[in-house]
Amino acid sequence: MKKFPDGFLWGGATAANQYEGGYLSGGKTLAVADVFTGGDQNNPRMVSFKTKDGEVGRVTSKESVPEGATAHVIPDQYYPSHVATDFYHHWKEDIALFAEMGFKSYRFSINWTRICPDGLQEVNEEGVQFYGDVIDELLKYGIEPVITLNHFDMPAHLADVYDGWSSRETIDNFLFYCDVVFNAYKDKVKYWMTFNEINILSGYTKLGIHSNDPQTTYQAKHHVFVASAKAVELGRQINPDFEIGMMVCYLLNYPIDSKPENVFASLQFNRDLEFYMDVQVNGEYPHYKLKEFEREGIEIKMEDGDLELLKRGTVDYIGFSYYMTSVSDVYASEEGRVIGNQMAVHTNPYLEVSDWGWAVDPLGLRVALSKIYDRYRVPMFIVENGLGAYDTVEEDGSINDDYRINYLRDHIKAMNDAIHLDGVELLGYTPWGCIDLVSAGTGEMEKRYGFIHIDLDNDGNGDMSRSKKKSFDWYKQVIESNGENLD
Ligand code: BG6
Repeated sequence: MKKFPDGFLWGGATAANQYEGGYLSGGKTLAVADVFTGGDQNNPRMVSFKTKDGEVGRVTSKESVPEGATAHVIPDQYYPSHVATDFYHHWKEDIALFAEMGFKSYRFSINWTRICPDGLQEVNEEGVQFYGDVIDELLKYGIEPVITLNHFDMPAHLADVYDGWSSRETIDNFLFYCDVVFNAYKDKVKYWMTFNEINILSGYTKLGIHSNDPQTTYQAKHHVFVASAKAVELGRQINPDFEIGMMVCYLLNYPIDSKPENVFASLQFNRDLEFYMDVQVNGEYPHYKLKEFEREGIEIKMEDGDLELLKRGTVDYIGFSYYMTSVSDVYASEEGRVIGNQMAVHTNPYLEVSDWGWAVDPLGLRVALSKIYDRYRVPMFIVENGLGAYDTVEEDGSINDDYRINYLRDHIKAMNDAIHLDGVELLGYTPWGCIDLVSAGTGEMEKRYGFIHIDLDNDGNGDMSRSKKKSFDWYKQVIESNGENLD
């Protein structure tokens, strides 16, 4: 296997709401993620709220929280984000383990409400200090911080008072937060990303909106685009050397066969990913989306200057997550679909699937890298990839996760081919959940991705102790050899 390019950013990735915990500690206030319950494959996560009349309710994230209802923590109910896997109290120990694996980079997100209470225009110095300490610790080991400004993170106050991203005021509040962190870490952090998996943002949990209708959703997303473009402009003013990326969930789709209907359905599916890159990389709403808005009667209210702003605030690189691929089959019933990255999709019959039904497709990663680079010609960063699996702790404490090693090895080979045979430009690779954390989709602990195991179960029982899985030493050797030794 050929080595990866010099300076390739091997590392790992996490998100605050799934890993950090300390949900009301150190001046942090409530986020919508903090009223999202645990669940598992068979029991969906629920969002809990209180109505205007004081009634307590719960809905799944696919249903709407009633207008006027507010985020509400129900006593005795388990909310995984409250403690998560407790980075808040273990950050030194965890970063030391990342350093031992040889990480060159570490992607994490900042909790908006730890920096700005309630997401408003005030600064919580303790929060700024916390991430400052984390960044210093990373730099001590030569680990490059890669920061996601917003990873499924909505301040509850902004959701409840402003209806989240449906309001333009949320843009100003977000910009205030960006200004604080850009300035605080401007000499220490180079790589940023604005919104995690912008293509799958929807509803109350991610956009803070009390409705799921397309009009409200696309209006809110327009505000997210504007906020992202403004953040890019602001970041460049603060430090012209910043590299600021966008982030999309690249769930590539193939037609199940060569029937033109399936080919077309697949094209449409992929356009729903490309739309976000077209706006954030090319700086404009693409023709096919404008026609869709026209057909569906969706009218996006824009302010003067919004379109010019989108043009100016384009990103430096495309960050994306890649776990699986799917197929389009217009003749199949909807029942056979699996939920992959929170989207219901049909599975490719030629591929094996994970314990959660996600199709394992390493060659698809080479297809993804090629398609993205052919179309956009900007550097890419694989900021999430991995296998969510049930792990078994043996009596001697060991965890033999060969299935995870095999998955990652095959995907790294595909990256290597894309670089050396196809000529794509790839900045780095940060496998998801490099240390065990809560699943975003199901809210459970037992769907594990990490090289490092954490003693915690789906109900929050466990002592939080950290231990190395077999994949820990394997990944260490991959990094040490710059991707040459994958055995
Ligand atoms: C992506 C998210 O959707 O995939 C992560 O950015 C998430 O937050 C990851 O955890 C894996 O999904 P899941 O549902 O297995 O946690």
